Amino acid sequence: MEIQMWRDILNPYELAVNEILVKFRHLIREYRDAGEYSPIEDVDGRIKKISSILDKMQRKDIPMERMTEEIEDIAGIRIMCQFEDDIADVANLIRDRKDMKVLQEKDYITHPKSSGYRSFHMIVEYSVYTRTGTKTIPVEIQIRTLAMNFWATIEHSLQYKYRHKIPDQVTERLHRASEAIINLDNVMGEVRGEILDAQNSFRVKANIVSDILNNIQNMYAVANKREVEKIQDEFYKVYLEDDWDKLERYSKELDIIAEGYRAQGIDGNIES
Ligand code: GTP
Ligand code: MG
Repeated sequence: MEIQMWRDILNPYELAVNEILVKFRHLIREYRDAGEYSPIEDVDGRIKKISSILDKMQRKDIPMERMTEEIEDIAGIRIMCQFEDDIADVANLIRDRKDMKVLQEKDYITHPKSSGYRSFHMIVEYSVYTRTGTKTIPVEIQIRTLAMNFWATIEHSLQYKYRHKIPDQVTERLHRASEAIINLDNVMGEVRGEILDAQNSFRVKANIVSDILNNIQNMYAVANKREVEKIQDEFYKVYLEDDWDKLERYSKELDIIAEGYRAQGIDGNIES
């Protein structure tokens, strides 16, 4: 097939991957801005390489004209979670979306592959709007913990290195590593609550400080410079006390002061 033909075929898949990445990355940001824990830690995506598409067609005896129907992972998204329990939350989040329709689910966590591979897979249907009209295509979404991802990445490189003929003793080591990963995910799961609390309070604190600094910065535009400097010194004093309830109260007071300045600023504009 000519390069231009491949481009035309792959174009909607590329758009789908880019759009979905934007959507999930935005979701992560939204959770973090709200000071909440994000069940998605990180997300990545790729278009299957032409050589890999051809390999797979040969391996599975798929004719050219059936390529787009039979190969469901031309567009691939990988979602990484911190904890195994997050995976079910992410799967639910995807099932609830109106812009993705779940076609298939494969639970390689409850039923790991013989290689030791674990992940939760979903094939979803996704529509993109291109120059030549609407295209509805399948997208493979792999959801896994950071630990599962670590294992799969190493195993994948070994498969590549040994060209899918991994020596027995390496396979054996990979199996042991896979068990260690299961153990790690379990132990992490047990302390999940504590880790979430710590992360949340850290994020809440970071958000308070950033709110205060934003307020102070905006005040420079509307208030007397010396007054703002006084407020800044005050903030720093409260900050050093390391009393977060007090800092939160201070942040709320500052909101009111800033609101007052903003109102004055608007009045000023109307008069001038
Ligand atoms: P593929 O021909 O490999 O795509 O298999 P499939 O279409 O039958 O789907 P399956 O759910 O088995 O695998 C889909 C994808 O999961 C693969 O393309 C890999 O990215 C990943 N995967 C599946 N099995 C393994 C494995 O044993 N090791 C690693 N590292 N990844 C795997
Ligand atoms: Mg596949």
